[in-house]
Amino acid sequence: MEIVTVGSYAEMSEIAAKIMIGELKKCPRAVLGLATGSTPLGLYKMLADAYKRGEISFRGVRSVNLDEYVGLGADNGNSYASFMNERLFGHVDILRENTYLPNGLAEDLQSECRRYDSLLDALPRNIQLLGIGSDGHIGFNEPGTSFIERTHIAELAKSTVTDNSRLFECGQAVPERALTMGIADIMSAEKILLLANGKNKAKAVWGMVSGQVTEDCPASILQRHKNVTVVLDGDAASLL
Ligand code: F6R
Repeated sequence: MEIVTVGSYAEMSEIAAKIMIGELKKCPRAVLGLATGSTPLGLYKMLADAYKRGEISFRGVRSVNLDEYVGLGADNGNSYASFMNERLFGHVDILRENTYLPNGLAEDLQSECRRYDSLLDALPRNIQLLGIGSDGHIGFNEPGTSFIERTHIAELAKSTVTDNSRLFECGQAVPERALTMGIADIMSAEKILLLANGKNKAKAVWGMVSGQVTEDCPASILQRHKNVTVVLDGDAASLL
């Protein structure tokens, strides 16, 4: 695991952008595993800017997202489909038909999980971008999730629902279930890039980097992946 600690969120995003841009230049038809949430916002802005400068193109890229809330579709502003459209896809030349997320509106959620597994089998990720939850989750694989799990319906931990509520307007119900790529599929990516910033991530980051490999801290499994880069700001790295 390569750990890079920097002074600020902007620097973290810059290093991440350099890594992603390098990947896209090396492999213009790359399959990107993508994440949502606050952490990658700076990175996505930098990727959109690099596209506008003509430095990179997403024309040949396919993307597979980690997760989606159960019950929310692309037309709901709180869905991850809508997040990706607003934060990245709408600003670059990626073909929408080459972007994939689990369908949170599927009638049969179990079949949707199996459909997503087949998709993941067909689209091995060159690079998987990850954030980390304050409880150590990656994707929405919460503590206690088996390391061999594939796409499944996750019951979000109370702390995750609380963390996520900041992105919802007052009075809007925060979903308590999500469809998430499993840890087995996260681990099958060729390279993993995990970003974390802020004091509230410090304990989870410690567990991921220095703790025992245990399903109680899902991110700790990354110690067993052969090509992981972790980029942290000083606050997230403060317990290391
Ligand atoms: C998002 C995802 C989650 C987030 C994590 C951190 O697609 O899979 O694991 O990366 O919850 O969220 P933020 O970045 O909002 O702190």
